[in-house]
Amino acid sequence: KTIYLQDYTPFGYIVDDVHLTFDLAPNATRVTSRIAFRPNPDAEDTRFFLHGEGLTLISARINGEEVDPELSPEGLVLDVPALPFIWECEVEIDPANNTALEGLYMSNGMYCTQCEAEGFRKITYYPDRPDVMSTFTVRINGDLPVLLSNGNKGDSGEAWAEWHDPWPKPAYLFALVAGELIAHPGTFETCTGREVELNLWVRPGDEGKCAFGMDALKRSMRWDEEVYGREYDLDIFNIVAVDDFNMGAMENKGLNIFNSSAVLASPETSTDMNFERIEAIIAHEYFHNWTGNRITCRDWFQLCLKEGLTVFRDSQFTADMRSAPVKRISDVIDLRARQFPEDNGPLAHPVRPESFQEINNFYTATVYEKGAEVIAMLRRLVGDAAYAEALDLYFARHDGQACTIEDWLKVFEDVTGRDLTQFKRWYSQAGTPRLSVQDDWDDAGTYRLTFTQSTPPSVASPSPQPQVIPVAVGLLAPSGEEVAETRLLEMTEATQSFDFTGLPERPVPSILRGFSAPVILEREVTTEERAFLLAHDTDPFNRWDAATALARTTLNDMALHGAAPDPAYLDGMCRVLGDDGLDPAYRALMLALPGQSELAAAQADAGHRPDPMAIWTACETLRQALAEQAAEMLPALFEACQVTEPYSPDAEQSGKRALGGALLALLTRLDGGARAEDQYAKADNMTLQLSALGQLIRAGKGDAQVEAFYDQWQGDRLVIDKWFMLQVVQSTPDQAASVARKLTEHPDFNWKNPNRFRATLGALAGHHAGFHAADGSGYSLLAEWLIKLDPLNPQTTARMCAAFQTWRRYDSDRQALIRAELSRIAAQPGLSRDTTEMVTRILGS
Ligand code: ARG
Ligand code: ZN
Repeated sequence: KTIYLQDYTPFGYIVDDVHLTFDLAPNATRVTSRIAFRPNPDAEDTRFFLHGEGLTLISARINGEEVDPELSPEGLVLDVPALPFIWECEVEIDPANNTALEGLYMSNGMYCTQCEAEGFRKITYYPDRPDVMSTFTVRINGDLPVLLSNGNKGDSGEAWAEWHDPWPKPAYLFALVAGELIAHPGTFETCTGREVELNLWVRPGDEGKCAFGMDALKRSMRWDEEVYGREYDLDIFNIVAVDDFNMGAMENKGLNIFNSSAVLASPETSTDMNFERIEAIIAHEYFHNWTGNRITCRDWFQLCLKEGLTVFRDSQFTADMRSAPVKRISDVIDLRARQFPEDNGPLAHPVRPESFQEINNFYTATVYEKGAEVIAMLRRLVGDAAYAEALDLYFARHDGQACTIEDWLKVFEDVTGRDLTQFKRWYSQAGTPRLSVQDDWDDAGTYRLTFTQSTPPSVASPSPQPQVIPVAVGLLAPSGEEVAETRLLEMTEATQSFDFTGLPERPVPSILRGFSAPVILEREVTTEERAFLLAHDTDPFNRWDAATALARTTLNDMALHGAAPDPAYLDGMCRVLGDDGLDPAYRALMLALPGQSELAAAQADAGHRPDPMAIWTACETLRQALAEQAAEMLPALFEACQVTEPYSPDAEQSGKRALGGALLALLTRLDGGARAEDQYAKADNMTLQLSALGQLIRAGKGDAQVEAFYDQWQGDRLVIDKWFMLQVVQSTPDQAASVARKLTEHPDFNWKNPNRFRATLGALAGHHAGFHAADGSGYSLLAEWLIKLDPLNPQTTARMCAAFQTWRRYDSDRQALIRAELSRIAAQPGLSRDTTEMVTRILGS
């Protein structure tokens, strides 16, 4: 069944208050609810329908009178009085057998919940929709030392505790946790002097992995006060780490629940990248307290209202905490790797989708990351001051409400007087715009840039219209000096020209600085010009992008036409590498090659059939050529990247280690693994240990270390996830599927745990040449496991189907193999709604 945005109607009843009592038992938890309803004067539809799935109804009462509602697999309906009334209901649920990890479930003996988007209906009967908001009071009865829910603490006693959340919230923000947990405590004094109790709750044994998360939380709380004027609004803020979790984390009011991989960290067990990700996710979930919780979404079509904005806010936070250019580049790498394929394939959908079957399938890179890009564009267009004013107005006007994208855009219109009608297409239109550029020079000193935009049609948007595209442009003189500082061109037409006057000579343009819009720039640029920008551009993003463009061009020439590595790329890279004036983290990004799937996309865009093996070989050849050309400078550079101070995950140290890791990869091609062995033996932190192990595996010399690593870390689930993943990631294309298959036979391959499943099969899906091995072994292994997982955990299964979304890029043999696997999945009896929707969309009509 498909649900449409245009069909929205408000619920017929208002909920004034919710009381819930949980009597916890693994197989038979009793949930008793007492809910005050009254008719909604703004609603036409007065049908009393409560969502409820997989519940055993024990009793139901209206105003104390026993009633007999009509039950269906989706919920219940009942005739109710046209006056305020009290609904009381008792249901039984089975958390121990809840393998979907949605609703109330158990993980390692601990009770926990995940209600977004539609999980609360698996806990009790309720109008489980985000526009129904209420205060909640919760009593938990259970013989466990720690009993948590949302809001502030109420009374408690032996084996029971009460919680009260004074802020009205939708049911998707409900949370409950109960178990043997240990608190890593902290306190925070808010800007108005209120003291907030903070706790990070973990399983015994994980106490040593809490300090960083707690610190990141405090920095997030301070930052939101200082930058957005947002103060925390309860007496307590709890975070709980859970091992079995479908996503990264969840912003439940006052009780955030995290995948343990997204919060637990220590130098010995976590990489620099883990630390950075954890800092960002803690900030993200905390920032939801205002953008998501205090102001929530009217319906799930508006998901980007909270997610796009909160991703944008967490990226601002990371940029402030670390290096802004490095963060911007990392975000664009991620956008190109995950969002562009989505936006240019069968799963394309607008940032605000207009229909869905299963909302969990729309927690996508488009809604999140493109949603954040849209806000970044809006901010660029209106300016920083107007953005700040608009946000103040948003918080003032909509606090306590469930809102839409129209509400969001209206505050910007009211503050700036701008008409955002055309800009709104960024929310309603799918597909990545292509921006082509032509330039002209006249000898009177005028330089003219003419842009043409076009967005490929998709199922979701068959006839796309021109977008508002902010194009940041700067101009450089042939000497390398900047002759025109960054200027923001506002493109609104399909084709549009912009003039730069009074120039002494024809300039070299630097276009789309800072990646000012999420588009694909199509411009014929000579290798010389790219090399020039790589050497001289003052915009760090475009300077980096010149490097990736050089790499992309030479790799595609190599893969498609058997060309040799471009000397311009190799020379440029050697210069960058040796430039001590450049931040090591930035140099490491420069050194990274474009993703192989991204290269395949570029080839397909240009009308070729990408050959994954040829792309892999081109990348190997180019790395080898760079290693050889840079051979003399590498050892000293590598030496300079060694950190002598005690480990810290800060930007400076992690930048050095990132560059060191990239250099080690080059050096291992020359020294046969001597340095990697040495680094592995001496490593006292996971970043160095793992990068050394990766290079050894890649060089085919890591057998002993692979075994030693396992023995050393056997007791640590998060590190063993890395062990699973690394072996797949570093395998050769012909081995990837068999390595992954072998790992699925390992006794530690606990496939019901989403982290372990993703570490193994997700890693295979991300190994471009391995996954697309010509014999279809990658496809069939993934399909086999998706078929096995679907009955237990539809959400994680459905997400991973996206690995097949690019199938039409490839040759007819691969297409036939993939089509067969997708059809095999689709034919499974009882296939979940989640997976059915994904497979159907990927296959197309
Ligand atoms: N709101 C969460 C976040 O972005 C994501 C939770 C989504 N979970 C889900 N099962 N759809 O922070
Ligand atoms: Zn979020």
